[in-house]
Amino acid sequence: PLIHVKISVEMLLPLSSQAYLSQFYRDPNATTFRGRMLLLPDLENELKAMQEFFGLEVTGKLDSNTLETMKLPRCGVTDVARYGHFQGSPRWKQSVVTYRITEYTSQLSKKEVDTTIAKAFQLYSDVIPLDFKQIYSGTADIMILFKAGYHGDFYPFDGPNGVLAHANAPGPEQGGDTHFDDDERWTLHSRDINLLLVAAHEFGHALGLEHSKDPLALMYPTYRYVNTNGYTLPHDDRLGVQALYGVRTSTNKPKPNPGPTPPEPCKRDLVFDAATSIRGELFFFKNGYYWKKGYYSGLSMHEIKSTWPSIDSVDAAYEFSDRDISFLFKGQQYWAVKGSTTLPAYPKLISKFGFPTYVRKIDAAVYVKSTSRTLFFVGTKYWSFNERTAQMDSGFPKTIQHHFPGIGSRVDAAFENYGYLYFSEGSRQTEYNFTSRRVNRLLLNYGWLDCY
Ligand SMILES: *[C@@H]1O[C@H](CO)[C@@H](O)[C@H](O)[C@H]1NC(C)=O
Ligand SMILES: *[C@@H]1O[C@H](CO)[C@@H](O)[C@H](O)[C@H]1NC(C)=O
Ligand SMILES: [Zn+2]
Ligand SMILES: [Zn+2]
Repeated sequence: PLIHVKISVEMLLPLSSQAYLSQFYRDPNATTFRGRMLLLPDLENELKAMQEFFGLEVTGKLDSNTLETMKLPRCGVTDVARYGHFQGSPRWKQSVVTYRITEYTSQLSKKEVDTTIAKAFQLYSDVIPLDFKQIYSGTADIMILFKAGYHGDFYPFDGPNGVLAHANAPGPEQGGDTHFDDDERWTLHSRDINLLLVAAHEFGHALGLEHSKDPLALMYPTYRYVNTNGYTLPHDDRLGVQALYGVRTSTNKPKPNPGPTPPEPCKRDLVFDAATSIRGELFFFKNGYYWKKGYYSGLSMHEIKSTWPSIDSVDAAYEFSDRDISFLFKGQQYWAVKGSTTLPAYPKLISKFGFPTYVRKIDAAVYVKSTSRTLFFVGTKYWSFNERTAQMDSGFPKTIQHHFPGIGSRVDAAFENYGYLYFSEGSRQTEYNFTSRRVNRLLLNYGWLDCY
């Protein structure tokens, strides 16, 4: 028999890379006998297809970017769009699709898994006229399990990282079935692997979506954490799934719009999420928006994402004016920004400041120049961080009410302006002299927003 060999010397790739290509980029016909010819895999072209898919430079060589991309945790479904189970645009024909979780992970409670899986389906039912119903016995359309290693199909899992999960396209029998690698560390936050994001991705396959080359799409093959608070289906995925199922309209059951609505400035009971100065202007954060107030520029409102695309809401913020850096906090993450530029290598975890793990969120923060300390407010307590030594001062947390008499028991937002510190609790605000430790004036938050 004639053997067709197309393999160049520089294409002798490490076995791990060959395995990656064969798993995610091999044309299923590539290695079959065709007539009397055995076709060997064309590694160079597979590598090029992979580089093209991820928007890398298409060199056909195993350069460092390509190798790094191969190491990213990802979905186990192939990136070759011509695979059988996606041919003919399979989709569910009924209006209610059932699912059942047959094996749970031990890393989250059953209730947490149920809620998260339901949330992942809801991302789709919000935009297409399809409903999902969990059942607890018998055979569901979509059977879901968490298991490590071999788990009953031809695609055993590979231990921590690598492949995180896989799912079948819609269809009878195993169609839609979704498997999660239980060697991963499943979480509900930014650490390790966030279950909501992976489940939502896999259910995309279970509904008939293939992988997308759009790095912002949920159906991008590699895992990337994004803030899951108020998360909605990205544009590319929404269009994809609506092309298969149509659009959910008000006649086929309306859902409330989960996106942020612009807050109203001139209400006496206005509560800020956070406030800070940045380069001589004041920023007041509320839901997904902020008001900016400057002596010369006046007052304006902006969506947070339009300035810092990776941040969709802010719990606390402070400006470290000595270095012209501001820090924005959301949950256990924080970002450093210089003006409208988010610095690379962020978000980081607030544990870097020395917070114990039980601190899940910072209410407010403010930098006090005279002492080089940043004060962090959490519940009824506050912490003091020494910016010179980059260490948390010992003896903290302390009770707000004892050490800042008159400002209230909690602080929702804090900032510095012309030597005074401003502390907001609810809609009330105190103007505070840190040197004399006295309240100077009582104010209302909305007074900053030109409402007279
Ligand atoms: C594989 O080859 C068969 C027969 O030539 C063809 O019908 C099928 O579409 C091919 N599959 C793919 C994924 O290219
Ligand atoms: C705060 O109080 C001190 C001492 O009473 C005073 O010298 C200082 O000017 C006050 N600060 C402001 C900003 O008014
Ligand atoms: Zn996938
Ligand atoms: Zn499986």
